[in-house]
Amino acid sequence: MTNIVILTGAGISAESGLGTFRDADGLWAKHNIEDVATPEGFARNPQLVVDFYNMRRAEAQKAQANAAHIALAELETRHNGAVTLITQNVDDLHEKGGMQNVLHMHGQLNSALCSSCDHRWPVAQDMQVGQICRDCGAPTARPDIVWFGEMPYGMERIETALSRADIFAAIGTSGNVYPAAGFVQMAKAYGAHTIELNLEPSAVVSQFDETRFGKASETVPAWVRDLLQT
Ligand code: APR
Repeated sequence: MTNIVILTGAGISAESGLGTFRDADGLWAKHNIEDVATPEGFARNPQLVVDFYNMRRAEAQKAQANAAHIALAELETRHNGAVTLITQNVDDLHEKGGMQNVLHMHGQLNSALCSSCDHRWPVAQDMQVGQICRDCGAPTARPDIVWFGEMPYGMERIETALSRADIFAAIGTSGNVYPAAGFVQMAKAYGAHTIELNLEPSAVVSQFDETRFGKASETVPAWVRDLLQT
């Protein structure tokens, strides 16, 4: 019974048409991180931030899961040990691909958060600045996205999963943002076999036991086939 922990990043959604962050045509080439992905940016210009996530939510709603998302859902169903999927992505393509349990450590586009009472609720439409919280009624709803400088969701669950991992895989992530980029080191310290599946070597590629380079829609289904045959 092997426990598998998987971390995904924007690269797994690239072939579904959603932009990555640090590729040449990525989101951070077109938008200033400080303006749209920090609490200070939201305080400075909330309309710019709400518009940015409304645009990304609308794009994600139109996007379809690709073969990589679907292969991971098949692994979750057919693997006889635990499969823990941690994603840095805020789209819902893992869910669209059939994944039952997804830990969105950076939040989700289809969720709102109240800055006053921490209540979270599903949203499918555009959000507005000063939107009323469904629970406390204050005009302090914001996109439920973990911005730079904020604590990612689920860190205790993540650390427990990493301590029990027999296999740790990172898929479609450049390894630039912590704490996610440090998960490979933690898993390795607990004795996991580590594998990177990415279009090109990530910033932490040297920490992986195994690497498979190529497009996620090709490398992930092949990796899942290999796992399910063992
Ligand atoms: N298949 C596999 N990998 C791909 C593909 C593809 N089709 N296309 C791109 N990639 C790889 C790129 O080579 C890159 O290494 O996906 C990675 C994407 O890296 P980033 O754009 O940095 O995205 P990510 O690692 O998810 O960013 C982490 O940074 O800005 C924050 O919160 C944001 O969650 C995000 C975090």
